Amino acid sequence: MAKDGEKSEWREFIWNPRTREFLGRTASSWGLIFLFYVVFYIFLAGLFALTMYVMLQTLDEDKPTWQDRLATPGMVIRPKADETFEIVYTVQKTESWDMYAQALDNFLEPYNDTMQLQKNDECTPDQYFLQEDSGDVRNNPKRSCQFNRSVLEDCSGFNDRYYGYQEGKPCIIIKLNRVIGLLPGNNGQAPYVTCGAKREDSDKIGELVYFPPNGTFNLMYYPYYGKKAQVNYSQPLVAVKFLNITANEDVNIECKINANNIPIGSDRDKFAGRVSFKLRININN
Ligand SMILES: *[C@@H]1O[C@H](CO)[C@@H](O)[C@H](O)[C@H]1NC(C)=O
Ligand SMILES: *[C@@H]1O[C@H](CO)[C@@H](O)[C@H](O)[C@H]1NC(C)=O
Ligand SMILES: *[C@@H]1O[C@H](CO)[C@@H](O)[C@H](O)[C@H]1NC(C)=O
Ligand SMILES: *[C@@H]1O[C@H](CO)[C@@H](O)[C@H](O)[C@H]1NC(C)=O
Ligand SMILES: *[C@@H]1O[C@H](CO)[C@@H](O)[C@H](O)[C@H]1NC(C)=O
Repeated sequence: MAKDGEKSEWREFIWNPRTREFLGRTASSWGLIFLFYVVFYIFLAGLFALTMYVMLQTLDEDKPTWQDRLATPGMVIRPKADETFEIVYTVQKTESWDMYAQALDNFLEPYNDTMQLQKNDECTPDQYFLQEDSGDVRNNPKRSCQFNRSVLEDCSGFNDRYYGYQEGKPCIIIKLNRVIGLLPGNNGQAPYVTCGAKREDSDKIGELVYFPPNGTFNLMYYPYYGKKAQVNYSQPLVAVKFLNITANEDVNIECKINANNIPIGSDRDKFAGRVSFKLRININN
């Protein structure tokens, strides 16, 4: 008997025909709850949209709102070794260096002189290429300067399509990451790259040659105004060719940017403005 009573109590809780209540509430009570949540969520969605709208109004579509004042650009090398930044190959094994040459081919393709001629302007060297907006009037789209692949001479892939890898004199290409508005150098002195061996390897690195001469990034490639404002921007490059590096040994190399207004490796980011990698060229006798 007791069981039957419990059962019917449950049944009444779910649907009580006397009071016409479902789960203890009448239809109009349920309706009000439902209405409340509908209104509540519409209100939340509206608040979210309004906040986003106000936030987006404050953003400039051409450049980031927040940017480090003294941004030191990172440096990267090509061919992109794996994450470990190692370039290791054996001269006699074509398949061990062919991928490096191919990576450089792909990387340098947009720098072909003909492509640069189509896309970009021949600028006046050794001075910044300024194209400022005047107040709210945007000076867009902004033009960019030609960086011809042929400037890299022996590392351009034109006269030596394997970039020296096949004879144990490899080329490495260095670029600075883009920083909007960066004006490197000072008093008309362009920033330049220097590479050296880590201390214990200093007698193994041998002679280096830089292209363009002295490893400079010409001032005309700065400032950079951002992807949207300056669509055809070609980052300037510096190539380093290792002419007499010791074979069959690891050589740890570090390249850095020298510019009197770019602090190198601050405490916050010790890789800023420099890049390290290992080069090992095996030559079988
Ligand atoms: C770029 O130049 C290289 C070497 O001359 C050539 O093989 C390649 O086809 C060129 N690419 C384009 C897109 O012009
Ligand atoms: C780049 O190459 C093109 C085509 O050969 C040439 O017309 C142009 O003057 C070169 N630009 C620079 C900056 O050397
Ligand atoms: C970008 O390059 C294209 C050709 O590839 C050219 O038609 C266009 O005018 C260039 N735009 C700017 C802003 O330099
Ligand atoms: C390279 O640097 C040396 C010494 O600083 C200077 O005399 C020479 O003019 C520079 N060459 C170029 C092409 O900038
Ligand atoms: C290459 O380096 C070796 C030492 O590692 C040295 O004995 C030799 O003279 C160098 N050759 C040239 C051409 O500099």
